[in-house]
Amino acid sequence: MTSGIDEFRQESIKKLAKISSEPLREYMELFSAATGLSKAYALTNIFEVNSEKIKNFRLLEEYIAQRCLGMPLPYITGTKGFWKKDFRVTTDTLIPRPETELLVELILSEHKRKNLKVLDLGTGSGAIGISIAEEMPDWTITATDMSLLALQTAKINSRGLKNINFVQCFWLNSIGASFDIIVSNPPYICRNDPHLENLSFEPRIALEGGEDGLSPAREIIRRAKINLVEKGHLYLEHGHNQRDDVVQILREHAFFKINSYQDLAGHDRVIRANS
Ligand SMILES: C[S@@+](CC[C@H](N)C(=O)[O-])C[C@H]1O[C@@H](n2cnc3c(N)ncnc32)[C@H](O)[C@@H]1O
Repeated sequence: MTSGIDEFRQESIKKLAKISSEPLREYMELFSAATGLSKAYALTNIFEVNSEKIKNFRLLEEYIAQRCLGMPLPYITGTKGFWKKDFRVTTDTLIPRPETELLVELILSEHKRKNLKVLDLGTGSGAIGISIAEEMPDWTITATDMSLLALQTAKINSRGLKNINFVQCFWLNSIGASFDIIVSNPPYICRNDPHLENLSFEPRIALEGGEDGLSPAREIIRRAKINLVEKGHLYLEHGHNQRDDVVQILREHAFFKINSYQDLAGHDRVIRANS
């Protein structure tokens, strides 16, 4: 069995190299998810011992096969790191992206007042709302999504937090309250973008933003004007080429102090504005 696992590991890493630039790291993550053992064990011959471990070996084989079919790693392992913790993800939630952390970072650095009310629209796995709720225990966060299945996952991710509640609704429909801050990473890919056709695993409703990709942003901006307190703050993530269009929509709805921010790759990614 010892040489068997060595061989299996080498073969798996070779297969993963065809679809990933980090095959060893991915092998270690898949190994850890299949066995419950730390990633370091992936480099040992742990499977030589008993039948329980051989069962895990079969699961690992299955995970490698799924990955080779193109399933994103977090959908196989069931988790993705975002801000300061691992979030549970399923194929009903978008996998939180590192660039979205910019929204959390901006909100936390720009607001120090106590007892603020924050609305996270299209919360998915809960990544934005939960990260803010954990950092600011005296703030109250409302997190919404149209997907009940996504909300179920977000609720699991929020376990133990008392300052966040979840509402199923379409953008701001049935949201009556006023908020100090509204934040959203809405779907923003154009309907005809070829990337959408190649998506086999991520939920289309999390990504497709209508004909020009801006339908969700338009709806959110229109309604945010009503649901923000006077001089409240709106933070929106957008596609790298959508900054000018989003600024235009904000101006049309009389938002002011409009600022644009770039992600770590240098792409325009987030806009904040006052109502
Ligand atoms: C780009 S994902 C963002 C998920 C999460 N906030 C993040 O940043 O990882 C957009 C989210 O908006 C939700 N969504 C799409 N259309 C919606 C609508 N009309 N009303 C409410 N939520 C919607 C999707 O279900 C999805 O969870």
